[in-house]
Amino acid sequence: MARVPLETLLARVERIRPLPGVARRVVALVEDDAASVDKIQAEILKDQVITARLLKLCNSAYYGFPRKIGAVSEAVVLLGFNAVRSLVLSLGLKEIIQAPLEGYSMAAGELWRHSLACALIARRIAQISGYADAERAYTAGLLHDIGKVALDQFVRAEFGEIVGRAGSGEKAFSQAEQEILGFDHCQVGKMLLEHWRLPAALVEAVSLHHRPSEAVLDPRLAALTHAADGLTLMAGFGLGADGLAYKIDPAALEKLGLDTEKIETLLGTVPDLVGGGLRAYED
Ligand SMILES: [Fe+2]
Ligand SMILES: [Fe+2]
Repeated sequence: MARVPLETLLARVERIRPLPGVARRVVALVEDDAASVDKIQAEILKDQVITARLLKLCNSAYYGFPRKIGAVSEAVVLLGFNAVRSLVLSLGLKEIIQAPLEGYSMAAGELWRHSLACALIARRIAQISGYADAERAYTAGLLHDIGKVALDQFVRAEFGEIVGRAGSGEKAFSQAEQEILGFDHCQVGKMLLEHWRLPAALVEAVSLHHRPSEAVLDPRLAALTHAADGLTLMAGFGLGADGLAYKIDPAALEKLGLDTEKIETLLGTVPDLVGGGLRAYED
């Protein structure tokens, strides 16, 4: 039974609470190379809630700046355009992915924790493996499972059948989604990100985060997103119905030059890295 008609799914994608306008506009500015400190500040100031949260974050222990940051423009100068884009996107995403996802057995806030952890780990992997755009890696990690938000109600309706067919592991789970619903959360994520007009290489990395070897636009970004997702689950952030036996593709690790020693060192830093990040974003 139960294939989800494309129109039903698209309607659902359109009903997902959109990313706040400020997040979309800051992303567009930075992506188009049209950014300046003044332009970014002007966009952020249009949203009082994001402005207040951004300043609070920049003044948190996590960033540890030696003096108080009182103006958005100061934050933009100190952090740089790309890091501010990541920050505003994170704040925007946090607002829209708090609800529990029953289809994936994720409690309220769990997808947020998984997403932020994956973003921070992806950024760290980028630094270790020499991937130049660490903030793009962060963004791919942040958004990789966004499709689950739109697919959840359909997964919930067919939960028994999907779990019964899935065996173990997230890849197997997404295959079962595909077989039973006709779509998996990777494809739905692709639809959402296209709907939000995010860049193609980012959309590719999200849509192939369980099949990174198929990427053509930016294979390292896809490998990185996949590896970050796997390490996030290994570290215990956001285990849902689909995350228990995640198998990281060895070819992805090889592409990134991640050997066992580097992975162990990285995993050792995760509690501080992710714990500190999550605390910084608490209200
Ligand atoms: Fe996933
Ligand atoms: Fe994930």
